[in-house]
Amino acid sequence: MRMYLRLLVATVLVFTQLLHGALSWGKDGHYTVCKIAEGYFEDDTIAAVKKLLPESPDGDLADFCSWPDEIKKLSQWQWTSNLHYVNTPKDRCNYEYCRDCHDTHKHKGWCVTGAIFNYTKQLMSASENSQNIVHYNLTEALLFLSHYMGDVHQPLHTGFLGDLGGNTIIVNWYHNETNLHHVWDNMIIDSALETYYNSSLPRMIQALQAKLKNGWSNDVPSWKSCHFHQKACPNLYASESIDLACKYAYRNATPGTTLGDEYFLSRLPVVEKRLAQGGIRLAATLNRIFSAKPKLAGL
Ligand SMILES: *[C@@H]1O[C@H](CO)[C@@H](O)[C@H](O)[C@H]1NC(C)=O
Ligand SMILES: *[C@@H]1O[C@H](CO)[C@@H](O)[C@H](O)[C@H]1NC(C)=O
Ligand SMILES: *[C@@H]1O[C@H](CO)[C@@H](O)[C@H](O)[C@H]1NC(C)=O
Ligand SMILES: *[C@@H]1O[C@H](CO)[C@@H](O)[C@H](O)[C@H]1NC(C)=O
Repeated sequence: MRMYLRLLVATVLVFTQLLHGALSWGKDGHYTVCKIAEGYFEDDTIAAVKKLLPESPDGDLADFCSWPDEIKKLSQWQWTSNLHYVNTPKDRCNYEYCRDCHDTHKHKGWCVTGAIFNYTKQLMSASENSQNIVHYNLTEALLFLSHYMGDVHQPLHTGFLGDLGGNTIIVNWYHNETNLHHVWDNMIIDSALETYYNSSLPRMIQALQAKLKNGWSNDVPSWKSCHFHQKACPNLYASESIDLACKYAYRNATPGTTLGDEYFLSRLPVVEKRLAQGGIRLAATLNRIFSAKPKLAGL
């Protein structure tokens, strides 16, 4: 009986962690991506975002960037929960849109990269054809696009199907049991905040912004660019993510491992760079969308 109870408790624990771990970059990660993006918005983007944002005291996109995580548990939004990630087959360290971007029923386009194309298209159609009736809620389109641009940069949001992007790999983060996906969504960022930034998220964001102006400044133009004059390039970002997942996230993180300083210190630079790239690319995508003429009309 005792054994059974223990098993039950363990199962419930793992299950709650699965649910919990199925979140994307935690709130802090999404806030960071959007806050960095805001610093690179062109005038047309600033104006369009201001029109589309829900009423709020200071009209800050970053405050709404976790909205898709908050709603996805509600029954009417459950269909969006597949749109936060994409999975590759077992041990495949590459990503292919046609092979990988579908839901469990093999519906094409039903994954994070498909969703980024979808919401980019919706925002574009509103920008290009001011005569056409807008069929979609563009506030939602903006918030989904901003959120999924963050997610596609989290390496384990393009992870293996077999372990649900690290969700079923139970590890210890220092002394606490958690799963590998959660380590990459939250724990590395949390530990960085505690270790280097006196638990202040604004300080961490400032440090990344400074790095974008110095250490990374030569890379930023290439991060922004998108091939063939496309508005959005999520396939490239997902390919980078699975490559990083194989090289850094899964590596030396088999079930039962205790991850400590060595893992933290070698993976933190990857997390910081992905947050910065997510921000730069969100801004670049929105700038490409909203600089299209004629301007957004009738919003
Ligand atoms: C595209 O967005 C619309 C509006 O949110 C939604 O109804 C549709 O299911 C989405 N499709 C995909 C593939 O994400
Ligand atoms: C658009 O979506 C937002 C968020 O779901 C909602 O608050 C708002 O009322 C919607 N706007 C319209 C015109 O339906
Ligand atoms: C471990 O969990 C405890 C209790 O939830 C928390 O206070 C502590 O900060 C966690 N430690 C790490 C390294 O995440
Ligand atoms: C760190 O944060 C605490 C609590 O917010 C504050 O009291 C303290 O002065 C901060 N330390 C530094 C060095 O900024």
